[in-house]
Amino acid sequence: MERRALRSFGRSMLAEWALDPAVTYLNHGTVGATPRRVLEAQQRIRDEIERQPSRFLLRELSAVAIGAPLERPRLRAAAAAVGAFLGARAEDLVFVDNATTGTNAVLRSLEFRDGDEILLTDHVYGSVARIVAFVARRSGARVRTVELPYPPRCPRDVTEAFAGALGPRTRLAVVDHVTSESALILPVAEIAARCRAKGVPLLVDGAHGPGAIPVDIPSLGADWYSANLHKWAFAPRSSGVLWAAPERQAGLHPAVISWGFDEGFTTEFDWVGTRDPSPHLAAPAAIEFMEELGAGAVRAYDHGLAWEAARHLAGRWGTALEIPEEMTGAMVTLPLPERLGGDEARATRLRNALLFEDGIEVQIHAWRARLWVRLSAQVYNEMADFERLGEAVLRRA
Ligand SMILES: Cc1ncc(COP(=O)(O)O)c(C=O)c1O
Repeated sequence: MERRALRSFGRSMLAEWALDPAVTYLNHGTVGATPRRVLEAQQRIRDEIERQPSRFLLRELSAVAIGAPLERPRLRAAAAAVGAFLGARAEDLVFVDNATTGTNAVLRSLEFRDGDEILLTDHVYGSVARIVAFVARRSGARVRTVELPYPPRCPRDVTEAFAGALGPRTRLAVVDHVTSESALILPVAEIAARCRAKGVPLLVDGAHGPGAIPVDIPSLGADWYSANLHKWAFAPRSSGVLWAAPERQAGLHPAVISWGFDEGFTTEFDWVGTRDPSPHLAAPAAIEFMEELGAGAVRAYDHGLAWEAARHLAGRWGTALEIPEEMTGAMVTLPLPERLGGDEARATRLRNALLFEDGIEVQIHAWRARLWVRLSAQVYNEMADFERLGEAVLRRA
């Protein structure tokens, strides 16, 4: 059950983060920002590891153990806590370093043949497009990119555009839960139903899902869900998860093969060589913090602020906010004034000027000969932060 927010959100919440208070941080979505108490929980785990490193890593961490593990593997206990947050069973969920690693695991485990088709959207994240290109090049598969209607009038527009491109050669579909640059929530459950009807497996890139929007993975009806906990779920960086439907777990291997090879889905992913497991083991502390604040209250605040800020800025800049509110969560992307140009070099110049001259960190990119800004709202932000951005942009337009 959601608890009421323990305190009011806004600038005072910065005390919970290690962020430089001199910088107006409007870029939570890019690499996340970890609350102090989660970092402290992570440090306690590191201290525990360092007291007896080999015992912790080789006997307690995973089922790949020297002899029987002393107790329930620590990663499995963490997976149970994270799974509860995402509506998933622990046995269907493994930790990966990040969404990129999870997506690599799925794509590199599948076998494609010459002429098979992998379906993407034109809003795909760049690294995912590259993983698909790599797999396609090795197998002779064809990559087909569906242009999504932009601005969409409603989620159905997107479902229809994507479903209309599913063909007899389509062997895999890949869609984002929340797109990266355009920051749109895609109708994943509806797309999954249409894929299923055509017998096409669906991989969801949920990098921006957990923490930002309600996520109940099994109910989406997808085959795989690769996500980050370090963007919006308050976990330390290098904390991603990969969920696989039970019937998709056989033959699914991590991108790095190690001692768990062929020992079963969770065992195989829980040991991919010696690494620091503290980001994964601290994920339950991150979720605990979010639930203490009220996960629903956090999402409602983030979305409300991002949307209000986008409306304010569109008005201030005289630009159009044409996307439906229901397709946005904690981030909203809108066009910048046309006078600022529309190429990548201008985007970089503006991003740097805002950071180094005004102390504002925000994501800016070029698309369709325009510059666009992606606003991220987190509980430590308030309207005044976005008003500062509005005026700083106007000074340069
Ligand atoms: C939609 C999407 N997918 C994947 C990623 C990759 O995330 P990571 O670098 O944590 O693997 C990002 C990162 O911003 C993203 O926005």
